[in-house]
Amino acid sequence: KKPDPCTFVIFGVTGDLTHRLVIPSLYNLAATNLLPDSFCVVGVARNGMSNDNLRESLMKGLRQFATRNVDEAIARKLLECVTCVEADPKDPASFDKMRDQINKLEAARKTGGNRLFYLATPPNAFAPISRELGRTGLLAEENGAWRRLVVEKPFGTDLASAKALNAELLKIVDEHQIYRIDHYLGKETVQNILVLRFANGMFEPIWNRNHIDHIQITVDEKLGVGHRGSFYDATGALRDMVPNHLFQLLSLVAMEPPARFDAYTVRSEKAEVLAAVQTQSEEEALKNSVRGQYVGGKIGDTKIEDYRKTEDVKPGSTTETYAAIKLTIDNWRWAGVPFYLRTGKALGIKRTEVAIKFKQAPFSMFSCTAVDRLSQNYLIISIEPTEGITLQFNTKVPGPTISIDGVEMKFRYKDYFKAEPSTGYETLIYDCMIGDNILFQRADSVEAGWQAVQPFLDAWKKAGAKGLENYKAGSEGPAEADELLTRDGRHWRKLG
Ligand code: BG6
Repeated sequence: KKPDPCTFVIFGVTGDLTHRLVIPSLYNLAATNLLPDSFCVVGVARNGMSNDNLRESLMKGLRQFATRNVDEAIARKLLECVTCVEADPKDPASFDKMRDQINKLEAARKTGGNRLFYLATPPNAFAPISRELGRTGLLAEENGAWRRLVVEKPFGTDLASAKALNAELLKIVDEHQIYRIDHYLGKETVQNILVLRFANGMFEPIWNRNHIDHIQITVDEKLGVGHRGSFYDATGALRDMVPNHLFQLLSLVAMEPPARFDAYTVRSEKAEVLAAVQTQSEEEALKNSVRGQYVGGKIGDTKIEDYRKTEDVKPGSTTETYAAIKLTIDNWRWAGVPFYLRTGKALGIKRTEVAIKFKQAPFSMFSCTAVDRLSQNYLIISIEPTEGITLQFNTKVPGPTISIDGVEMKFRYKDYFKAEPSTGYETLIYDCMIGDNILFQRADSVEAGWQAVQPFLDAWKKAGAKGLENYKAGSEGPAEADELLTRDGRHWRKLG
């Protein structure tokens, strides 16, 4: 289905996100005939430039970041829709002017007044831009036209700032107009968690505390902080990844079955389970967490220097580049089942997965077997490096004696489906245009996420350098992260 005609307004059009993701996604939608028939893109920059210069810069970005061969005719047709507009929220008159320009463009392009404002800007610009859009009436839904606001991450830096930003935006627009992006929800395998759980009859009956021992969520990255020092040093691994990306995985894995597959119901169940994550005291948070910072090392052939020596990072920084935390969910399904979450930069491997560890068989009659090779009965939902699902179980090794070994049943997406490589943003951008916000974060989920991590943020801030472990770039992270599980008689799932 093609979206309604609309104007796609991008704030931060000269930035990295626009060049790397937004335009390549619009290109992929154009190439698959999923853009509206009447469409125009308004690129807003604080310092204006000519349409030609902007189009040229976007074309350069597209050539560099496209996920498929660029068809010149399609690219040109898309970029011809782009108009550059100069506006700065510090200068209200520029927004008034922009409103008039948009009105004119809409009449010429016959977009019916439908507008999508995409805030691909640094987070401190979200509120000022939205306020100006509100003041100029650009976001007011009228005469049957829709008006939508797409907000990138990070959404706040803690519970208080996320609440303040929500309150601010909700003064200007209604919740149904806000699309808070978390790019994890654009990933096929992440969306597939819902299908795995709720389109099959055999998983859900054992998806609870009676059969599941614990759940591990891992997002390990090889890349260091690179040129993002200034953003990252003020942010850290926990803020950057946990309340958003890891909690998306957690909420999809842990939510109750929604009665209907619609945005209200699905998002309500997700918010409900996040709100049930136990809020820990700062003392508990310290006990249930490990944070680390990388020091120089090697990842493959690439040498990585100490985090503290990274450009724009304070030399004495206590910002964590690795975080591992233990959470519990206070409801009937999950009482007593620990959720262990970990994420870090500059690690030896890139891996994103959810590992569901089932309880061992209650009694083993095979006592004289190679017990140490017994499989751990994991169901692994793998997002990186291979998208797929693996089930580990035990089987008899052929031969006259009873001996047991662990084996795997593996489903890999690429073995079954041929999908064109994508940026992961296409679905999200398309959904914004058709008005389906099921894959976007609602205010209550965002706040519940911050609520759950706030004790860790507070406790770590107070502790400063105390308790910040070092780990070598290229390693598996700080050794202390293992203790978080070994003291519970468990261990992180190893690869291989
Ligand atoms: C971003 C974070 O939101 O997600 C980055 O700011 C991180 O620090 C990235 O590298 C990870 O995304 P993915 O899709 O590579 O797992």
